Amino acid sequence: MIRPAELIERKRDGEELSAEEIRELVLGYTRDEIPEYQMAAFLMAVYFRGLSGAETFALTDAMVASGETIDLGTALERMSVDKHSTGGVGDKTSIAVGPIVAACGVPFGKMSGRGLGHTGGTIDKLEAIPGYRVELTIDEFIAQVREIGIAIIGQTANLVPADKRLYALRDVTATVDNVSLIAASIMSKKLAGGADAIVLDVKVGDGAFMKTIDDAHMLAEAMIELGARSGRKVVCMLTDMDQPLGRAVGNALEIREAVATIKGEGPDDFSELVLASAAHLLALSDLSVDEFEARKLADDAVADGSALAAYERWIRAQGGDPDPDALPQAAVVREVVSAGDGTVERLGAIAIGHAALHLGAGRRTKEDSIDYAVGVVCRKKRGDVVSAGDVLAEVHAADETSAAAAAAEVLAAYELGSEPPRPRRIVLDTIG
Ligand code: URA
Repeated sequence: MIRPAELIERKRDGEELSAEEIRELVLGYTRDEIPEYQMAAFLMAVYFRGLSGAETFALTDAMVASGETIDLGTALERMSVDKHSTGGVGDKTSIAVGPIVAACGVPFGKMSGRGLGHTGGTIDKLEAIPGYRVELTIDEFIAQVREIGIAIIGQTANLVPADKRLYALRDVTATVDNVSLIAASIMSKKLAGGADAIVLDVKVGDGAFMKTIDDAHMLAEAMIELGARSGRKVVCMLTDMDQPLGRAVGNALEIREAVATIKGEGPDDFSELVLASAAHLLALSDLSVDEFEARKLADDAVADGSALAAYERWIRAQGGDPDPDALPQAAVVREVVSAGDGTVERLGAIAIGHAALHLGAGRRTKEDSIDYAVGVVCRKKRGDVVSAGDVLAEVHAADETSAAAAAAEVLAAYELGSEPPRPRRIVLDTIG
């Protein structure tokens, strides 16, 4: 039997722990045999000392073992592919990628999370669709992926319970932003979900966990190593989160933008990310296509309407109405107008995320309810030239008071300059 205080001391002093010690610690904590204060101290020791590759794998493995696992590939008798984003502002990528991949004949079954703070969650966005059921049983989930080709549901309560407990503890002990802990948290959920191959979208910038490209590289490499140790293929895209992704931030607004993108009418940055992600998933799948052929398949699925048909089939199968006109609409739409001329040099992702949060599009605490209709649409983005009087953004609000407050926040998120900024790609690097 391990002695937690001894493990904390050894980690504090920079020693490497064995896989068995880490497993007993994590499982003991999940069974309530190890108190929160000891786990909190252990996390802080990890925060300062880090974990080796072997320790990070042991932590991931123990977290997977803390709950149920799903073997989607065996159930479907096909290889299963999955994607995950480390989270950002305006990130509705899975909602557009899923139907494209499904239209190309690759099953897409995904469990997603809810948002907290300035980042949104895919499940909250899907709940903006009238009637959409996020809670299917595992049998219903598998049957829908088999018959319709796509399902996206909320994470079941018993999938990696250790992560739920540890994440909540990290959130209140200043131990969230550690590469090993983030890598183990993300990969444990992907491995428990049964993916054979995984595309990871590591966001970089002011609206992301990883503020610099070097930190994003470290996280990507840690997750690729965890994939290799688990016999899974992992591709990591490092993508820009210095400004919101696409134009729309807010649940129903993002669903509308995802549908437009599936039809080939989305904003450039978001469309490029969606198609690049879909192409990686198809190239990793059992279709036996290379990256170039995969991209062509994804482009064609958008152009010929088969991705839109897959979207409509999917939403109906989960009880929802796929017509964008059925989405809730905000009572007040206020334009945010530029006072001067120039080029947009900065459009702060966090600031726009906070404006949407204050409008009611997200939760400040887990108990908060969401207003699905509200949010921000950024009409101008970094690099766009604006003149005085041009509309920079739209605020969609429940009432005039919240619209006025959000409009001021949105205006402050825009910085105009005289020089055109250097163009910045949405996909900054791809590794794995
Ligand atoms: N996303 C996760 O799922 N876990 C983390 O620790 C950070 C981002």
